[in-house]
Amino acid sequence: MNIIAAADINWGIGIENRLLDHIPEDMKFFRETTSGKAVIMGKNTFLSFPNQKPLPKRLNIVLTHDKNFAPEGVVVCDSIEKAIEIAKSEYTDEDIFFIGGESVYNEAEKYCDTAYITKIDFAYKADRFLLNFDEKNNWHIKEENMIKTEKGLYITFVTYKKDI
Ligand SMILES: NC(=O)c1ccc[n+]([C@@H]2O[C@H](COP(=O)([O-])OP(=O)(O)OC[C@H]3O[C@@H](n4cnc5c(N)ncnc54)[C@H](OP(=O)(O)O)[C@@H]3O)[C@@H](O)[C@H]2O)c1
Repeated sequence: MNIIAAADINWGIGIENRLLDHIPEDMKFFRETTSGKAVIMGKNTFLSFPNQKPLPKRLNIVLTHDKNFAPEGVVVCDSIEKAIEIAKSEYTDEDIFFIGGESVYNEAEKYCDTAYITKIDFAYKADRFLLNFDEKNNWHIKEENMIKTEKGLYITFVTYKKDI
């Protein structure tokens, strides 16, 4: 299974329940990588979406302990293990993506063997962070590809693999 995230140079991923920046090149990468797949997210991340609508063309699984939370078009789960079971009933491990936020990435790391991290070469103000994959002994970089965005930012698409 996979983690997919965009992080700044301090591994920041969000502030006040929104993303740090809007980077069309990264949005495109995210859309292309996760379309047709299963995405698992925390309630805060779902609530941060425009109009609180599920991501199209994906199985959207939202984690919450709130039994009254029942938005249209998503599967709601009260544990990560149940979310994984539901996703696995329809999708292979390669097609299951944990898409945030901080709390879900932290919990999902032990279940994943691949992490697609877009590293943004900028320091934003942030209040949510991703675990630092460069400092984790059991993960290594498989490939990386840096681009300059239309806005002039440098971003690097990094694929991390867990050592086996
Ligand atoms: N840069 C990126 O790639 C990226 C991607 C996604 C999100 N983000 C950012 O991350 C921030 C949100 O992160 P966050 O940590 O505050 O929130 P989050 O992980 O999106 O959601 C947290 C909530 O999800 C529920 N939850 C999490 N794990 C659960 C579990 N195992 N079982 C049941 N419920 C569970 C809980 O809801 P209840 O309290 O209702 O039980 C928890 O309060 C935002 O700023 C967002 O923009 C960034």
